[in-house]
Amino acid sequence: MDDVLLDVQDLKTYLPLEEGLLKAVDGISFTIRRGETIGLVGESGCGKSMAVRSIMRLAPNFANISGRVIYHPQEGDPVDIVQLDAHGERIRDIRGGEIAMIFQEPMTSFSPLHTIGNQITEAIRVHRTQDRKQAHKIAIDLLGRVGMSNPSQRMSEHPHQLSGGMRQRAMIAMALSCEPSLLIADEPTTALDVTVQAQVLQLMRDLQDEFGMSILYITHDLGVIARMVQHVAVMYLGKIVEFTDVDSLFYQAKHPYTSALIKSIPKIGKKSRRRLESIQGAVPVPINRPPGCGFFPRCSVAIPGLCDRVDPPLVQVAPRHAAACYVYPEVAEAANVSELEGQGDGTR
Ligand SMILES: Nc1ncnc2c1ncn2[C@@H]1O[C@H](COP(=O)(O)OP(=O)(O)O)[C@@H](O)[C@H]1O
Ligand code: SF4
Ligand SMILES: [Mg+2]
Repeated sequence: MDDVLLDVQDLKTYLPLEEGLLKAVDGISFTIRRGETIGLVGESGCGKSMAVRSIMRLAPNFANISGRVIYHPQEGDPVDIVQLDAHGERIRDIRGGEIAMIFQEPMTSFSPLHTIGNQITEAIRVHRTQDRKQAHKIAIDLLGRVGMSNPSQRMSEHPHQLSGGMRQRAMIAMALSCEPSLLIADEPTTALDVTVQAQVLQLMRDLQDEFGMSILYITHDLGVIARMVQHVAVMYLGKIVEFTDVDSLFYQAKHPYTSALIKSIPKIGKKSRRRLESIQGAVPVPINRPPGCGFFPRCSVAIPGLCDRVDPPLVQVAPRHAAACYVYPEVAEAANVSELEGQGDGTR
């Protein structure tokens, strides 16, 4: 276990709304080891962003977070991020200094009022060195390493003066400025056109090799997953429904939702980019969610009377491959559904 960096156990993020309790994240568990890349994939609305925001303690103030997010620093004792004061010093140290995050919209990382040079230099001074000159030098070096031409000139530009791709690069430089152990990337290339997206993905792969950090990569795009990660968690309606390595996911998908996602990837050679939403139906809003498997209303192989009654647990169904679906007898066994099925039918 000593190479584990982040251990997420039964993380739940519930939002008490007027309409009811919204279970945005509903008991997810996974671990990230040092240097490992993990992907979290699922359609829009599945709870990916809320999950990583909860890990960073950036979820809305009214959210109820439970479970454990154990962060193992390089030095010092492990810390349960869920137990920290969301506005306290320790989480601020972790955020940016040890776990960094990049988003789809770089303007959430930058203030429009200051130059990117000042902002990156400030981040370095908060987390790495007080020395202004040295921080300035590190910032220029980083801008060069993320592929920005004339980095010293770029230092004096404001975020809005940069193109979308360059802003994304600047945000990556900002995130890497503190040499984080873990980089959380929440759809960082979704808003970019295909060519720039490919460049930024390649850049992130190179930087990962160079910095040796772990990456938690969030996307709705399985094409990005195939290029970027070693292990994948497929999320649906607040839960992880499949977890395995990237090859097994594409060649031996176990969960009907994953299979539907894979089928919705545009075929190579076809010009049109179909969206994942081409799976029949849409992700329901997880308020007052009915019992049973969340995918039941959209599943073509659902078993009525079983799938709509008891939520299938995530269980190992093949070596290093877990799925939450009653198609696999191991899952039914783990859920004890044979016992449950016996209830209420007069046989007991
Ligand atoms: N601030 C919020 N208030 C109410 N509901 C929210 C809020 N943020 C997210 N949600 C809901 O939580 C669920 C998960 O959202 P999100 O984590 O953003 O999904 P994803 O990142 O997978 O697209 C969705 O049903 C979304 O509508
Ligand atoms: S548990 Fe049932 S409804 Fe859910 S994915 Fe499997 S077969 Fe479909
Ligand atoms: Mg999101």
